[in-house]
Amino acid sequence: MSKNFVTINEKIKNFRKKINIDGDKSLSIRWALIASQSIGVSKAKNLLKSEDVKNTLNCLKKLGVKINEHKNFCTVEGRGLNGFIFRKNLILNAGNSGTLGRLILSLLIKSPYKIKITGDKSLSKRDFSRVIEPLKKIGVNFYPSKRYKLPIYIKGNNYLRPINYLENKGSAQCKTCVMLASLNLPGETRIKAKISRDHTERMFKSLNIPLKINRMNNFDNITVSRPKIIKKIDFNIPGDISSAAFFIVLTLLTKNSKLTLKNININSTRIGIIKILNKMGAKIKFKNIKNLNGERCSDIKIKSIKNLKGIICPPKLNTAAIDEFLIIFLVAAKAKGISYFKDLSELNQKESPRLMIAARILKLMGVKLKYNNSSIKIYGNPNLKLNKKIIIKNFLKDHRVFMMSVIAALSFGGEWKIFDPDSIKTSFPSFLKKIKGIGAQIN
Ligand code: S3P
Repeated sequence: MSKNFVTINEKIKNFRKKINIDGDKSLSIRWALIASQSIGVSKAKNLLKSEDVKNTLNCLKKLGVKINEHKNFCTVEGRGLNGFIFRKNLILNAGNSGTLGRLILSLLIKSPYKIKITGDKSLSKRDFSRVIEPLKKIGVNFYPSKRYKLPIYIKGNNYLRPINYLENKGSAQCKTCVMLASLNLPGETRIKAKISRDHTERMFKSLNIPLKINRMNNFDNITVSRPKIIKKIDFNIPGDISSAAFFIVLTLLTKNSKLTLKNININSTRIGIIKILNKMGAKIKFKNIKNLNGERCSDIKIKSIKNLKGIICPPKLNTAAIDEFLIIFLVAAKAKGISYFKDLSELNQKESPRLMIAARILKLMGVKLKYNNSSIKIYGNPNLKLNKKIIIKNFLKDHRVFMMSVIAALSFGGEWKIFDPDSIKTSFPSFLKKIKGIGAQIN
């Protein structure tokens, strides 16, 4: 059995490197799910090989989809719209993945049998009412009928109807759940959604699925109608900015260092972290911008910054940085002045209650702060250096809490013992290998 903690006792030395980052998780899961509904064999290169994606492929296999995983690519043999093989007593395990757990439901809305959806300890604590409610309006059945957490049973219905749905949390999972459901609904499904990551919209457009989008202020009015067929979808998956984020911040906080991250997805709905860090004084640049399958991608160039300043973070940047706040808070801890982040209650709805856990870790580090369940004020200290023992344990094995802690240890010093390194398998399996590759001493 591998050790269930790592120790870090020294800061990382300065580095100059060019590296790749594992494939984008949101795109990998969406590609597999949408490919399963298509006609033909879809092929993805650089599909993320993580637990969340493996669970996605396993769920699809249980539904009769043939999948071949090769070293450098993966193929999905689509079964066409509503082509899954539904069987009695099927159990689908979404593991740790909120995206998979919520999105897969929308592809089961015609199942004649009850299907049980399960998840790990973290996922079983998370809110599913946000997708169960719109699906119930469509006509889908859930058992027990008043339960809104996993495990839960879903059963379809022959009389499904399209809905008008308001998504006002900025949740791409909720929006996508209804968009995917609309592939099997008659008529037009109308969604008014607070702007959030728009990968599904882009994939739908590239597949000529009937889709209209009108932007009004901070919302998109989206109309989707059922396509006759979905053609196969070949995809070259770029690196995940949510994984890149850890390396971006490590570079900013380490003296005399430079890093190039190659071919990262810089979709405008995902680069909140870059906007926030540049407002704090960073000079992060995009080089070699190109379009890959309708997604904007580029190399990201980062160098260390001496004079980081605090930020009053505009809440309109929240959804585009929702998975990156843990690591952004580390920059705020080192910046000159006070930083304030508000309207962040969604952060407590993630793999762990991240706002609360971040506050706890920052306090262990001796950072002065104030927080409640939707905001945090961090009193930055440009001279922040640690020389104490810090143990990070019991964080629901949240992959991003583990990686944030590693970056804190490597940037600020101290003697750290950080539990659950296996959590990185969820989103960024090569994280420790890559970070050692740029010089980190981790035991
Ligand atoms: C995701 C959407 C976000 C994000 C998650 C991935 C997606 O969740 O936090 O890691 O792929 O759609 P919400 O939709 O709950 O905001």
